[in-house]
Amino acid sequence: MKKLSIIYWSGTGNTEEMANIIYESAKEQGAEVILKFVNEAALEDISESDVTALGCPAMGDEVLEESEMEPFIESIEDKISGKKLALFGSYGWGDGKWMIDWEERMSSKGANIIHDALIINGKPESDEDTNLCREFGKSLVK
Ligand SMILES: Cc1cc2nc3c(=O)[nH]c(=O)nc-3n(C[C@H](O)[C@H](O)[C@H](O)COP(=O)(O)O)c2cc1C
Repeated sequence: MKKLSIIYWSGTGNTEEMANIIYESAKEQGAEVILKFVNEAALEDISESDVTALGCPAMGDEVLEESEMEPFIESIEDKISGKKLALFGSYGWGDGKWMIDWEERMSSKGANIIHDALIINGKPESDEDTNLCREFGKSLVK
């Protein structure tokens, strides 16, 4: 049985909704899944899982949220070499640059990115967006 940790930050609930769908989908596959807001998470949630999904919306000017998510990423980024990761998050008006930068950053630290980053505009409401989140969760625990 695969163990997946989902660690996210969300301000208005959109990335949280993505996280919830990913959680449900992975659970349906029979995986053991941990779902934590970033302020509850620790390095062990990553080191003791087979796969970790990290979620954060585009904030600031195409950056991670700066008071909780960015410090967490700083605290783990030198300890994730070889770990299987996938990134997700919601955005508003931008072009997704925050996610490209984030993925490059994690790759440069030696993380094994096992799924293309999933970005959703606003809240995942359409069938298409919901299915993308479901597929993401399913494929992470395959
Ligand atoms: C302070 C702030 C900064 C933001 N900066 C960006 C940005 O640079 N690019 C972008 O596409 N969206 C930006 N957004 C929009 C959010 O990414 C978008 O509303 C997202 O759905 C929020 O996700 P959440 O509900 O998980 O917090 C920003 C929103 C806020 C509140």
